[in-house]
Amino acid sequence: MKFLEHVPLAPYTTFGIGGPARWFAEASSEDEALEAVVFARERGLPLFILGGGSNLLVSDDGFPGLVLHIASKGIEQDGDLFRVAAGENWDAFVTHAVELGYAGIECLAGIPGTVGGTPVQNVGAYGQEVAETIVRVRALDLESLGFVEFEAADCAFAYRRSLFNSTARGRYLVTRVAYRLTHQGQPRLEYADLKKYFANPPHPSLAEVAAGVRAIRREKGMLLVDGDADCRSAGSFFKNPIISAEHYARLVAAHGSAIPSYPASDEQVKLPAAWLLDQAGFKKSYKLGRAGISSRHTLALINLGNATASDVLALRDAIITEVEAKFAIHLEPEPVWLGPSV
Ligand code: EPU
Repeated sequence: MKFLEHVPLAPYTTFGIGGPARWFAEASSEDEALEAVVFARERGLPLFILGGGSNLLVSDDGFPGLVLHIASKGIEQDGDLFRVAAGENWDAFVTHAVELGYAGIECLAGIPGTVGGTPVQNVGAYGQEVAETIVRVRALDLESLGFVEFEAADCAFAYRRSLFNSTARGRYLVTRVAYRLTHQGQPRLEYADLKKYFANPPHPSLAEVAAGVRAIRREKGMLLVDGDADCRSAGSFFKNPIISAEHYARLVAAHGSAIPSYPASDEQVKLPAAWLLDQAGFKKSYKLGRAGISSRHTLALINLGNATASDVLALRDAIITEVEAKFAIHLEPEPVWLGPSV
């Protein structure tokens, strides 16, 4: 495999932002992934694993170590079990499963990125999350340099969270994910936007639901479409915050009962970050320098053209400060940040 030097990272991200990687390599197999990890270790280089670059903001200074792009391909089917290589395009896998009549991931159509990223942040949308269908995750342990397999129950899945981005962050390189899907299963129609879309005619097929999700995402600028300025982003820029019932009651007392909310576990309440931004003055099409907010979804921060990571960070900080002042909620960014701690 080739180890390239000083490779600009911006083209590898949907944001189109980021300086160069000191070293860059592409792994098409588990052997190559191991070879690259050894290369980095022998030289004392920090390592960053790059999948689809769709949930990533890279610093303007780039990365001083080795960026390893995972490009492995392959879908093996064994009955209702699909073992998928980490480098497969996620949406292509959804299309494949839906075409074969398998339910379980149809609401996750149109999400950019690769399969390997899906267990890391427990990708979810429109009433489904991958934690419901993942049965096993295979990974390279970057400490022992051995391959390990995790059963779903050991992955600590929660909202946008797993073992891989929390307690064991940076320790594993996901190489393969096994999903158990349901042959001829019914599509999931729980999310309000989807129910509305399919109110008439009702009872859509799996393929119709996947197409409907893509159409809704496209409308919101959350589907990667060439030339669509609203999708030069990393999707949702903030997680939807989860607060206590008492905190929510205080907010309702102060701001009225029109605050949209969803129940979360342990009697907590999840609030749409998009609504909080809007109320704090960060509306659709808001601009700060060369960064801004999508014209179709408040939660997507976008690169208006030639934006730097610093432009995006300035907007991020302005939003966090304002939302905190108004609602006493500290928003957490959703995309991965590659750069010095800020
Ligand atoms: N809202 C606004 N303004 C907007 C958009 C939304 O105020 O411009 C409020 C409304 O109250 C709306 C609510 O936010 O009812 C929810 O909006 P939406 O259905 O668009 O979902 P979201 O909470 O903003 C989450 C995920 C998305 C996922 C959608 C659909 C997070 C951080 N984001 O967004 O995931 O596609 O639900 O299920 O959980 C991503 O992570 O990058 C992503 C796109």
